[in-house]
Amino acid sequence: MSTNNETVIIFDTTLRDGEQSPGCSMNTDEKIEVAKALVELGVDIIEAGFPIASPGDFEAVQRIARECGAQTTICGLARSRKDDIDRARDALMDAEKKRIHVFLATSSIHREHKLGMDKAQIVDTAVEMVARAKEYCDDIEFSPEDAARTELDFLCEVVEKTIAAGATTVNIPDTVGYATPSHYYNVISTLKNEVPNIDQAIISTHCHNDLGLAVANSLSAVEAGARQIECTMNGLGERAGNAALEEVVMALRTRHDYYGINTNINTQRLHPVSQLVSRITGMKVQRNKAIVGQNAFAHEAGIHQHGMLKERTTYEIMRPQDIGLTGTNLVLGKHSGRHAFRDRVDQLGYKIDDETFQKVFDGFITLADKKKEIFDSDITALIESQKTDFEAHWVLNSFHTSAGTGMIPTATVELQHDEEEPVSDAATGDGPVDAVFRALERIVGIEARLEDYDVRSISSGKDAQGEVIVEISYLGRKYHGRAISTDIIEASTRAYLHALNRAWSDRDSKPAEREKANL
Ligand code: KIV
Ligand code: ZN
Repeated sequence: MSTNNETVIIFDTTLRDGEQSPGCSMNTDEKIEVAKALVELGVDIIEAGFPIASPGDFEAVQRIARECGAQTTICGLARSRKDDIDRARDALMDAEKKRIHVFLATSSIHREHKLGMDKAQIVDTAVEMVARAKEYCDDIEFSPEDAARTELDFLCEVVEKTIAAGATTVNIPDTVGYATPSHYYNVISTLKNEVPNIDQAIISTHCHNDLGLAVANSLSAVEAGARQIECTMNGLGERAGNAALEEVVMALRTRHDYYGINTNINTQRLHPVSQLVSRITGMKVQRNKAIVGQNAFAHEAGIHQHGMLKERTTYEIMRPQDIGLTGTNLVLGKHSGRHAFRDRVDQLGYKIDDETFQKVFDGFITLADKKKEIFDSDITALIESQKTDFEAHWVLNSFHTSAGTGMIPTATVELQHDEEEPVSDAATGDGPVDAVFRALERIVGIEARLEDYDVRSISSGKDAQGEVIVEISYLGRKYHGRAISTDIIEASTRAYLHALNRAWSDRDSKPAEREKANL
C-alpha cells in the first residue's frame, strides 16, 4: 500500500487526440463548450488542438486560449518543425497559462519507415525544437512518439537531452497501444532510475487502448512514478481510443487506499461532461462502459439487490452521486411546477442561466404533454439539446411522411435556408426514414452516404423519447448528427439534417487537411 499523498496532473486531450476519432470532429463553438466543461470538471491541462493542422484548428486553440486560458493551462501540439512550433506559439499567445507540446517519433520502425532519420538526427532535431519552443514558453512538453516500442537506452538518451534542452514534462506515449502494465511499468521506472536529470521534469503517460489496456497501463505508470496522465472523456481517440479520463480518475479515487494519489477533478461533473461530449461528438457511450455507461450502477441480479438493500457496499464500490448521478431518478410530471424542476436541474449538476432555464422549462412542459413521466435522462436531454447552438444553415420547418403495407413510402420536407424563402421537396424511399433522408438531400444539394444509423430509447416506457445518431460520409470526410424526440421519424429527420448541416458548412474546406499535416 502506498503512503503517498500526491496529486497527479490530469491532462485532457479530448479536443486533440479525441477529436481525431473518425466522425468525431467538432466545430469551434462546440470545442469551446467542451473546453468550458473541462475547466469546470477541474482538469489541469487542456490540449486544445494541433494549430498547424488547419485554420479551423488554429482558431479553436486561439479561442480556447482566450476564453479558458486564465483558469486552466492550454496546450497546443506541434511536430518537431519550426513552422509547427511558431503556429502553436501564435495560437496560444493570449493564454495566461500555456504549454507547447512538441513531439517526434523515436522507435526504430518510425525512424526507418516514417522519418528516414537515424538516432543522432532524432536527438538533434528534438533538442533543437524543444529549445526553440522554450524561447516562447516556459512550460514545454516533449513526447518521443511510439516511446513504448523504442529501445530503452535510446529512450533514456532522448529524455535526458530534451529535459536538458528545456522540457518540463516528458510524455511517454504508447502510440499504438502495444504496452502491457508490467512492460509499461518497467519503461517508466527505467526512466526514473536511469535518467540523471529526470527530477527536473514530470513523467507523463499517454496510452492508447488497442489491447484494452490504456487505463491499466496509465495506473501502472503512476505506480512507477509518473505524475501526469493524458486521457480523454469517454476514452475517445485514434482507433480504440485513449485512456478514459473518468476511469483513471475514479480508479485513483476509489483505490486511494492503494495509490495514495489525488486528482483535482470534481468527480460529480464526470457524468454530465461525459454526456456533453457524447452529444457533441455523436459517439455513443456503450451501455456497460465503466463509470459513465447506463448500466454502470444498475444491479440486476436478485442476490445483488438484496445485498445492496442491506448494505450498499456489498456490491457497490462507488456511489452514483460521486460521478454526478443523483441516484434517485425522481419522476416529474406536468404538474411538478417550476420550482421542483429548477431543483432537479440543480441536483443534476447543471448551472444554467435564467434564459436557458426558461427554454428548458418550456421544453419540459411540451414534453410533459406528450409523455406522462419525465425522468432524469429526459431532463438531461432537454438541457443538452438547448446547448446545441450549432450554426445550422438549414432549419427544419416541417415534414410529412406516409408509409404502410402495399404503398410506396413518401416524404415531403420544408426547410428554411438562412434568411431565404422556405424550400420544399418530396422523395420516395424504401421506408419513411429513407424517403425523408432523400428529400433532405435533394433540398440541401448534398448526396451523402449513410454510414451508420442508430436509434435507442433514452428512458423507459412506450412513450419514451428516442435518440437517433447518424453518421454520414461526404467528400471523404465523416459527419455525425444527433437528435431526440418522442417521434423517431422526427428524431431521424433532425439528426440527418444536423449531419447534412455539418457537411454543408465544410463543403469548401480542402479535403483531409489533417491527413496533410501527417499526424
Ligand atoms: O499517440 C501519440 O503518440 C500522440 C502523440 C502526438 C503524443 O498522440
Ligand atoms: Zn495519441
